[in-house]
Amino acid sequence: MEDRDLGGLMQAFEVANVITENSSTRTLLLKGRLESAQPGQFVMVWLPEVGEKPYSIASAVPLALTVSSVGTVSGKLAHLQPGERVWIRGPLGKGFRLMGEKHLLVGGGYGAAPLAFLAKSALKQGGQVKVCLGAKSEADLLMERRLVDMGSQVWVATEDGSKGFQGLVTSLTEQMILEERPDCVYACGPTGMLVALAEVCKRYQLPAQLSFEGIMRCGVGLCGSCELLEEICKQVGLPSGWLACHDGPVARFDGGR
Ligand SMILES: Cc1cc2nc3c(=O)[nH]c(=O)nc-3n(C[C@H](O)[C@H](O)[C@H](O)COP(=O)(O)OP(=O)(O)OC[C@H]3O[C@@H](n4cnc5c(N)ncnc54)[C@H](O)[C@@H]3O)c2cc1C
Ligand code: FES
Repeated sequence: MEDRDLGGLMQAFEVANVITENSSTRTLLLKGRLESAQPGQFVMVWLPEVGEKPYSIASAVPLALTVSSVGTVSGKLAHLQPGERVWIRGPLGKGFRLMGEKHLLVGGGYGAAPLAFLAKSALKQGGQVKVCLGAKSEADLLMERRLVDMGSQVWVATEDGSKGFQGLVTSLTEQMILEERPDCVYACGPTGMLVALAEVCKRYQLPAQLSFEGIMRCGVGLCGSCELLEEICKQVGLPSGWLACHDGPVARFDGGR
């Protein structure tokens, strides 16, 4: 078996501040940094007696995590207060790699979290950043203000039409691909959204980098729990046995160019 990067030792980080993003989502700003982290990479976050789960790196300096409260670990994390601590392994996995100068970023739900980090890097390199954000309704949108403030142009799709385009973010993205002719599409969100985007990008022979989720336990390619379903691998064109933690979470497609 090839050598696996075990992500280093677990380190304790203190919560410095908490930002409320929407009714169920908070960003934890931690005291400390992960200098080497790339946008799209993740960390394994452990809370004693609660559990350990993967979270995207929303910012590396300082380290920040954006957590939507949906269950056991996320519920506890989203309610941490300044002064409390979390234990972190990482950065882990393969992140996004900027290609060309015109970047189209697509985020669904908390998938917007790593996109803020990616947008910051792209803008720093002098790139042009356009973003399509999708959510069920206006109240569920994440990162819109932050992305605009840092200099990205943002379009919004809501399923109930409460803000922006009414419908799925994938339909909005297809329109934007035709209008803006980006060099690459970068996306993070639910699997259904990613599969649909892979199809759209293939149709326009456009490179795409898609961040897939899996059920993670070890986070470093040892346990096999994050293997992407065979059916999804076939649909998007990844080899079977693709591990989200080790081979991804970001999968890169060249669009047939
Ligand atoms: C690479 C990677 C990056 C991730 N980044 C983030 C991130 O930046 N922010 C973030 O909030 N989460 C992120 N997640 C998801 C996170 O790891 C947890 O799965 C999530 O927080 C739920 O864990 P839990 O223990 O709170 O819920 P559990 O107790 O495991 O689940 C409770 C219930 O919630 C349901 N559930 C689980 N996940 C979701 C969901 N996403 N939406 C709705 N219902 C759900 C389950 O089906 C179950 O019914 C990421 C996952 C991966 C693999
Ligand atoms: S989480 Fe163990 S192999 Fe990916």
